[in-house]
Amino acid sequence: MFTLAHLSDPHLSPMPRPRLRELMGKRAVGYFNWRTNRGAHHSVDSLSALVANMKSRGFDHLAVTGDLVNLGLPDEYGLAHRFLESLGPGDRVSMVPGNHDAYVRGTALLHIDMWKDYIAADEPSEKSGIAGTAFPYLRRRGDLAIIGLSTAIPTAPFLATGKLGKAQLLEFERLLKIAKDEHRFRVVLIHHPPVGRHSPHEVLTDAKAFCAAVAREGAELVLHGHKHKALLHKIIGPDGSVNVVGVPSASNPGSHPERGGAYNVYRIGGRTGAWSCEMESYGFAPDGGGIRKIRNVKLI
Ligand SMILES: [Fe+2]
Repeated sequence: MFTLAHLSDPHLSPMPRPRLRELMGKRAVGYFNWRTNRGAHHSVDSLSALVANMKSRGFDHLAVTGDLVNLGLPDEYGLAHRFLESLGPGDRVSMVPGNHDAYVRGTALLHIDMWKDYIAADEPSEKSGIAGTAFPYLRRRGDLAIIGLSTAIPTAPFLATGKLGKAQLLEFERLLKIAKDEHRFRVVLIHHPPVGRHSPHEVLTDAKAFCAAVAREGAELVLHGHKHKALLHKIIGPDGSVNVVGVPSASNPGSHPERGGAYNVYRIGGRTGAWSCEMESYGFAPDGGGIRKIRNVKLI
């Protein structure tokens, strides 16, 4: 039995104080939005409590699906690296970036250098989906193949879209096939949800191509963030339906059943053709009684 934990969208705070010259264009809009609205939806105390609870439960590996920072300020990447280190070493934690991690062009690739231990492929490939980066990566852990994708691209103000790009999609499909031939339980990490109905300003623009790749080669589990909401969708693969699961923001202090701060734990066992996968969600109880199991779903 392999235990995989998943958290997403911590949107770490307190945000380092931006310099005036850093507050241009998209960052100015984002900073105003954070101060007047978004900031209230993310609590560092709630995040700490959730992470402590998750660590006390124990896991073999942890997936983090992006949006660690907010405005792409240089100092935010250091703060996020310290957060990643607090979760565990790079070989036990796999992360993929979100749209906020590539918020503006000037610092869009900073996460690749600053968080490299958490996105390093087992075998650095000569072919890479995004020039000069590690995506997509393949990591083998137990019977699992963890495939990490980047949808993080800088966009115009008010946009939170994501894109994989043709090169990354091609390599993604190749990795799915390699892992399938190795009879592994394939877990795909992606920030933007590849299925479901979403507003045009926040979609994955090449979601159809992603779903087509999964429909051809299959996968056992797809994990995402971005929506700050508990979600479950399916993609029809060659050997049955593939579960696509979204987790709420880990720093949301609320106890809403779908949007309250939570993390998921997957217990994975069996073998090719006879996998089992059970999901447990842990979040804040509505009665203020601390962190509890709020959902239990047998996915496979
Ligand atoms: Fe996002």
